[in-house]
Amino acid sequence: MQILLAYASLSGNTREVARLLAAHCQARGHALHCVDVDSADALPALARPRDLLLLGCWTDSAGRTPAEMKRFVAALRDGPGLPPGDRLAVFGTGETQWGMEVYCGAAHRLARFFASAYPVLAIEQMPHGVVDTHTIHHWADATLAHFEGLHDVDPACRHA
Ligand SMILES: Cc1cc2nc3c(=O)[nH]c(=O)nc-3n(C[C@H](O)[C@H](O)[C@H](O)COP(=O)(O)O)c2cc1C
Repeated sequence: MQILLAYASLSGNTREVARLLAAHCQARGHALHCVDVDSADALPALARPRDLLLLGCWTDSAGRTPAEMKRFVAALRDGPGLPPGDRLAVFGTGETQWGMEVYCGAAHRLARFFASAYPVLAIEQMPHGVVDTHTIHHWADATLAHFEGLHDVDPACRHA
């Protein structure tokens, strides 16, 4: 399937999760385009056809969504339109030291805003080690399988 992965990352943690997700989805045979929402490539990427949007976000103070992601969501709303919740999954990084009630708050806010049909992937800071890698790969596989089930996609029909 065609996947757009758009992420916001201040210091690189979410970018690394995005990189691991992108590599895994591509290895599974999906056509994935990855963009930083704060780059010049972000808005042109919205014009690309896609089946699924993966949104990745770091969390700002008190669980807030950073401004660059809010701008991207506004551009999505004002351009191609907001995708339905069964076509958007959210992942994020954060730090539990800010309090569990706001841990990865931006990712959870985004998932609620879009009524995402998928569980949020939350990673603490920079992903590291086999446990985080397994968690990321497992989330990707579960998300793709759920999407294929919801949309009656034949898993054999993937892009090379
Ligand atoms: C000003 C500031 C406020 C933050 N507030 C929160 C927060 O409320 N909840 C949380 O989970 N993480 C919070 N964090 C931690 C970042 O979201 C976390 O380090 C994240 O992994 C950064 O991702 P990035 O490297 O992709 O920018 C905050 C970080 C900064 C700099």
